[in-house]
Amino acid sequence: MSLKSINPTQTKAWSKLEEHFNTTKDVQIKDWFINDAQRAERFTIKWEDFYVDYSKNRITQKTIDLFLELAEEVDLKDAISKYFSGDKINKTENRAVLHTALRAKETDEVFVDGENIIPEIYKVKDKIKIFTNEVVNGTKKGFTAKPFTDIVNIGIGGSDLGPAMVVDALQFYKNHLTTHFVSNIDGDHVNEILKKLNPETTLFVIVSKTFTTQETLSNANIIKEWFLKSSSKQDIAKHFVAVSTNIEKVKAFGIEQENIFPMWNWVGGRFSLWSAVGLSISLSIGYNNFESLLEGANKMDTHFKSETFENNIPVILAFISIWYNNFFKAESEAIIPYSQYLNQFATYLQQAIMESNGKSVDRNGEVVDYQTGTIIWGEPGTNSQHAFFQLIHQGTKLIPADFIGFAKALHGNKDHQDKLMSNFFAQTEALLNGKTKEEVVFEMKDLNIDEENNNQIPFKVFEGNKPTNTIFIKKLTPKSLGKLIAMYEHKIFVQGVIWNIFSYDQFGVELGKQLAGEILKELNTSSIENHDSSTTTLIDHYKKSI
Ligand code: F6P
Repeated sequence: MSLKSINPTQTKAWSKLEEHFNTTKDVQIKDWFINDAQRAERFTIKWEDFYVDYSKNRITQKTIDLFLELAEEVDLKDAISKYFSGDKINKTENRAVLHTALRAKETDEVFVDGENIIPEIYKVKDKIKIFTNEVVNGTKKGFTAKPFTDIVNIGIGGSDLGPAMVVDALQFYKNHLTTHFVSNIDGDHVNEILKKLNPETTLFVIVSKTFTTQETLSNANIIKEWFLKSSSKQDIAKHFVAVSTNIEKVKAFGIEQENIFPMWNWVGGRFSLWSAVGLSISLSIGYNNFESLLEGANKMDTHFKSETFENNIPVILAFISIWYNNFFKAESEAIIPYSQYLNQFATYLQQAIMESNGKSVDRNGEVVDYQTGTIIWGEPGTNSQHAFFQLIHQGTKLIPADFIGFAKALHGNKDHQDKLMSNFFAQTEALLNGKTKEEVVFEMKDLNIDEENNNQIPFKVFEGNKPTNTIFIKKLTPKSLGKLIAMYEHKIFVQGVIWNIFSYDQFGVELGKQLAGEILKELNTSSIENHDSSTTTLIDHYKKSI
């Protein structure tokens, strides 16, 4: 069964939210804090090692209550149950959406077309485990009988971003293997990586759900050619493995059956790091840590499907995001992890969130007349404080932000950690409270600055009232990272349900690919077909420049 199709803006709750918005939009969050000593407590969810404080938002209890009514009207409960039980909620591709099954317990049962998929998932997990152990402990060797030192993940989009982000995020837990990622069709990318590699000790993992992606196949082919310069064809079996649903195409590339790690069409590319797509994660941090990552995600799955909506982290975060996107008309959301390990987190989320909810047609096939998918961007703090925070603090745009922090530093440097965390807390406080004219004047007096002759006052005022969520986690571990990623996955789902869109297709990326295919042919012939004059001139200019 597919998801219901209910236009959220036609619900009673939406009209009430509009009215509520008109009466609260100008209120200062800091006044709510002054008038309600319990506010922080009221708007905090404590769950396992997560402490999610969403009190610094332009919301009241009524906002949450009205969103709860909205969730009821669009039947979010029904949608969640369909999501977990394998209904074909990706209707435009006639597929179930079951990345959650990849981290389910072995005793669970999830059916797709009448078949329990859990045993097959565990069979592949076993294969990942055995393979990982053999590579890590050195029993699996290259063509000159040397153990592997380097892993290269060849993939793009969901076959790159998830594994690359996690490998980077969990580098503290990594073993002796060095992992590289080749994704871009820009040949300079692959060549720069190849410069660092020894073919005798490098294992290549080609990851492509479809095994038709131009970037991945071009990179895999050039790497195979490079490899064959110092080895022979039969050595390919020792150095190339693939993760794909398209077994025939993988074999045609020259990869042995035993080196193929299958995945399934009910796993969306951008949600696939939990499958064999995560092989490079497992190789990099060891299978047990990979298993912990999955376990963490499974914990978040349980929280999401069984917790009441008012205490449900992904549901509340989705409500808040819709509040700003659809009522305050915020143009984007920032993700600011106070951990250098999460350097690639916003980039990873850009695909997960924007490829999923960047849709303008609803589940009835009608063009929507309301906003959907949010624009996501961000960088770790404190670096980002010295880059774009000025605009968040004093610019004209409202940019709700998620601040993600970890109480414990992995290397245990208390002095740095205290400084990091003081910035983490200070920024959300500054964004909330801002600085009034009176405070600026007072500060000047304190510093003996002549305010009469000082024209800096207006520039030093901070409006404040800038919303933030604080997602505060005990420690960055494979398990807590699994929870954090799954938290955003479910937030995406809730938003898609409420916006009445299909979150699990991505037809929008096709047009550019199709046109690139046509232009590619033209680059090698004398003719340039029908384009607008700008494109024609650019192609012509390129041809003359090479
Ligand atoms: O960008 C479009 C897309 O289809 C993504 O959804 C996917 O993650 C990526 O391309 C890579 O696809 P594949 O794994 O099939 O090579």
